[in-house]
Amino acid sequence: MLLLSKEDIKEVFTMKDAFAADKDAFALFSAGKSDVPLRTQIMAPKQEGTFLFMPSYISDIDAAGIKIIDIFSKNIDKDLPTSSSQVILIDGETGIIIGILDGNYVTGLRTGAASGVAFDILGKKDAKIGALIGTGGQAAYQLEAMLCSRDLDEVRVYSRNHERTCDFVNRMNVEMADYGTKIIGVNSSDEAIDNADLIITVTPSTKPVFDGNKVKAGATVSCIGSYQPQMQEMPPEILTRASKLYFDSKDAVLSEAGDILIPLHDGTITEDKFTGDIGDVILGNLTGRENDEEIIVFKSVGIGTQDLVTAKAIYDKSKKNLIGTEWN
Ligand SMILES: NC(=O)c1ccc[n+]([C@@H]2O[C@H](COP(=O)([O-])OP(=O)(O)OC[C@H]3O[C@@H](n4cnc5c(N)ncnc54)[C@H](O)[C@@H]3O)[C@@H](O)[C@H]2O)c1
Repeated sequence: MLLLSKEDIKEVFTMKDAFAADKDAFALFSAGKSDVPLRTQIMAPKQEGTFLFMPSYISDIDAAGIKIIDIFSKNIDKDLPTSSSQVILIDGETGIIIGILDGNYVTGLRTGAASGVAFDILGKKDAKIGALIGTGGQAAYQLEAMLCSRDLDEVRVYSRNHERTCDFVNRMNVEMADYGTKIIGVNSSDEAIDNADLIITVTPSTKPVFDGNKVKAGATVSCIGSYQPQMQEMPPEILTRASKLYFDSKDAVLSEAGDILIPLHDGTITEDKFTGDIGDVILGNLTGRENDEEIIVFKSVGIGTQDLVTAKAIYDKSKKNLIGTEWN
């Protein structure tokens, strides 16, 4: 069995590789070629924590797996990671467990890549300004994916805690200097989204984190954070203004995410508003962006197919390059 740490994975696998894996994953999912039961959530109310178990099997790539991810948001106050995760990879031909991969890193890559793929496929070609709301564990991956998807002049970053925003921005300006994009910390979400072409929200908020009326025509918005019925980072106005609304998986989103469930239940939107899953755009079954004026929203909660395809692609590249630790 191959053990792959974050450092191992970094040696062989880039964000662009993760885009390719997520595109394959979304296409396989929409073609009905991945067996992905809805994930099991167990709550730990005392700690406001959640244990998530995400199994999957894809015959086409001869792989199965399960990701275990535990989300304990209060850990941020104890200077501990807010999520802990491993991916267990199984050979689909023999059923033998062949790898364990750092699940936080796989999650970061495939979740960043989900926004990246959405921008790549649905974003305006000449996007120049980005906005990132949230500076927690997922934010650096989201930022890198945004920078990989378009040649941006500037990304504005906002989160609730200004000190943490400044630390994040300083770190990112060093780590992502090669992209040549100015990364700026701002004091409000209004400032962040002003004239922005690409917007990412990546928070566990239960209240909308930006003003949907202030999003400019032609913007593409990727909402990553909400995965429980009470979580709502997306303002309902953005849904009424958007001409298209795509999902990673409509079924998964409708089973979990307040972002869509709340406005659906209070009648702000109806199911007519749903365009479909992004995998169907990749497969050519659905139209994507049709002009530079339409606002497009992508909502993701994350699907096991992304983890499995990404983990298998990392495993294959690592084997080829003799990276990782063999453990028997
Ligand atoms: N869609 C997916 O596939 C996927 C994958 C992983 C994580 N997530 C979800 O994404 C969210 C963010 O994950 P994380 O690990 O970065 O979380 P985190 O707890 O580490 O960080 C959250 C960030 O959001 C900011 N924030 C919270 N409320 C805010 C508000 N009202 N306005 C502005 N900023 C606000 C916080 O200041 C912090 O910077 C979580 O809900 C997580 O479960 C989704």
